[in-house]
Amino acid sequence: MVGIRNSGHYGLSGYYAEQAVKKNLIVFCFTNAPPAIAPHGARKSLFGTNPICFGTPTSSKVPFILDTSVSVINRGKIRVAARNGKKIPKGVALDKLGKPTTDAKKALAGVQLPIAGFRGSGLAWMVDILSGVFTGGNHGGKVKDPFDDFSGPQNIGHLFFVMKPNLFVGNYSERIKENIKRIKRLPKIKGVKEILYPGQNKQRRYKKNLNKKINITRNIAEDLKKLNA
Ligand SMILES: NC(=O)c1ccc[n+]([C@@H]2O[C@H](COP(=O)([O-])OP(=O)(O)OC[C@H]3O[C@@H](n4cnc5c(N)ncnc54)[C@H](O)[C@@H]3O)[C@@H](O)[C@H]2O)c1
Repeated sequence: MVGIRNSGHYGLSGYYAEQAVKKNLIVFCFTNAPPAIAPHGARKSLFGTNPICFGTPTSSKVPFILDTSVSVINRGKIRVAARNGKKIPKGVALDKLGKPTTDAKKALAGVQLPIAGFRGSGLAWMVDILSGVFTGGNHGGKVKDPFDDFSGPQNIGHLFFVMKPNLFVGNYSERIKENIKRIKRLPKIKGVKEILYPGQNKQRRYKKNLNKKINITRNIAEDLKKLNA
């Protein structure tokens, strides 16, 4: 188990989980993040979008990596929509007066909604405890925003822990293969060709995107040019 404090925004949890899975380990990663979500019942944001990440080898080439923020959508998507003047979906954010909004700028000034109401709020809180309180990093709404607040270091906390898959049984790789097979074999709802496990969708998108151009909007291209200058 490794706890980290005095860190900054580390991007995708799944990247780190992949490193452990490549070494044939089961892994959990947690990180806190700047305030974005209001704790259940509060009017002010305090928790970050605090992703929860779990990975395991699958005995196939594609690892199982569940890597999910605990907000309905991640903050990056709202930032991109704000930069491109696009709307965000309904039901993902409230403005600063607490009214539902599809305006990305208003959402950034307001609060994002957690997944599944008080359950998501509880998960965000758990991640804040594990990665902030436990490691000695900032917590309880003190993590600074890396885009808007340059008053000091973020002092984000991360917690990683790994387990040997064969700790209890000698045939984990056969068991996980069987587990995935049973789920994939289930009858599918209309319009679904295949039941994917977490990580499979991303692996496919990655492969597809490697072979084609990735389009970005003019605004984002201009931002990149400015940064380059
Ligand atoms: N560092 C930070 O502060 C921070 C904060 C929030 C999010 N993030 C990162 O942003 C990234 C995106 O997060 P997100 O919440 O938008 O992820 P997402 O909603 O795209 O995916 C969440 C999970 O669902 C799985 N999934 C998606 N579609 C699926 C399907 N059709 N069938 C089966 N599984 C499916 C994905 O593989 C993934 O494991 C993550 O890598 C996360 O770590 C980082």
